[in-house]
Amino acid sequence: MSNEVKRDGFGSKIGIIAAAAGSAIGLGNIWKFPYITGENGGAAFILVYLICIALIGLPVMVAEFTIGRRAQKNAVGSYRTLGSGGPWFLGGFLGVITAFIILAYYGVVAGWTIKYVIFSLGNNFSAMNTGEISELFGDFISRPVEPIIYQIIFMAFTSFIVFFGIKTGIERASKILMPLLLVLILLLDIRALTLPGASAGFNFLFKPEWSRLSATGVLEALGHAFFTLSLGMGTMITYGSYIRKKENLVSTAFSVTIADTVIALLAGLAIFPAVFSFGVEPGAGPGLVFVTLPQVFNQITGGYFMSIFFFILLALAALTSSISILEVVVAYLDEEFKIKRHVATIGAAAVITLMGIPTSLGFGKMSGVTLFGYNFFDAYDKLASNFLMPLGGLVAALFVGWGIKWDIVEDELTNGGELKGKVTLVAIKIFKHTIRFIAPVAVLIVFLYKLGAFNAIIA
Ligand code: PHE
Repeated sequence: MSNEVKRDGFGSKIGIIAAAAGSAIGLGNIWKFPYITGENGGAAFILVYLICIALIGLPVMVAEFTIGRRAQKNAVGSYRTLGSGGPWFLGGFLGVITAFIILAYYGVVAGWTIKYVIFSLGNNFSAMNTGEISELFGDFISRPVEPIIYQIIFMAFTSFIVFFGIKTGIERASKILMPLLLVLILLLDIRALTLPGASAGFNFLFKPEWSRLSATGVLEALGHAFFTLSLGMGTMITYGSYIRKKENLVSTAFSVTIADTVIALLAGLAIFPAVFSFGVEPGAGPGLVFVTLPQVFNQITGGYFMSIFFFILLALAALTSSISILEVVVAYLDEEFKIKRHVATIGAAAVITLMGIPTSLGFGKMSGVTLFGYNFFDAYDKLASNFLMPLGGLVAALFVGWGIKWDIVEDELTNGGELKGKVTLVAIKIFKHTIRFIAPVAVLIVFLYKLGAFNAIIA
């Protein structure tokens, strides 16, 4: 019964796009994209990222929607149903594990955004220079208890929404909030681009210097394409299962991908001119946004209110993403094990929060402890974004391209032959080749490149 309530999920076309875009648009766009762009040298990295979005991300999103809507189940159940008992379900299982890892550290950073709402309310940045603002950030994240409290608060909000099911919370919230966020970012862009020395930031974003891009950078670009579009871990399979039968999956995926990419680029455009103008180090890492934007707010009339508003919206953007991560786990536990939704929600959220605590402590008390040579935070992030998600995406691509009959895919993408428009038919044709050949081969090439498999040829 609970299945039926959930399965009539998203009520309108705009509701679906808003919810899927709400999942895609989050900390990945505004916090992570700028800082990894800074670490990987700028424009060349962005170009590779855009190529990954177009050739891999978009087709994989169509594939995941197809799997979910066809099967009408959670990530594991969807693979199991369509894969008729073969080992494909492991792809869904991988997604559930990835969801645990991502939300563990995502909740920590989202907690920081709540603290920044409070800093903003207290007008804490106004008299500060670059050094002081970055000290404020460093001091806060290295505290042993406070960031964990904010992480717990954030995870409680996330659980609260997932607890009450899909339709009401997610759909309504994202429809209003995401456009508002866009307006605020545009205002920040205008201010940032008129700062003294802004052009250096502009060049950093748009003038590729290929020598700055390493094999690791290419892998990061691929990983981020998955991360930012919420792919390769079952989110878009699970959300796909809530999409009504009469919606056009290809055009939905297209809109979501465009919206996500535009927001990321606009966020970069707000941040890098300011980075150069204020003399912040572009490779400063996870604090980049938190150190740079407060200074832009200091330069704006009404910046006090804007900064409060901005960090509230950022926290909410994180929330519409985090609920989509937790939903993967809850839908799985609920449908496969018949665990009641509220028990599944609270249990999963508690385990995830505990898993996240070492990532928070890794910025302070536990900074000496490493996993595979990384602090906990980077270890979780790199394992999930650069390895598990591309792997999950590869499985989805192979499954839709080769694992199930193409007739089924076509039936799903044309809504049983209803959609006959030329654009849709051409798009499906392109999709067929991309999902069968280009996307899987591209993921494999990046993996091999990172492993150094081409060193002999290149050198
Ligand atoms: N795409 C989200 C973001 O950019 C993060 C996310 C990853 C959400 C995986 C769901 C699944 O912030």
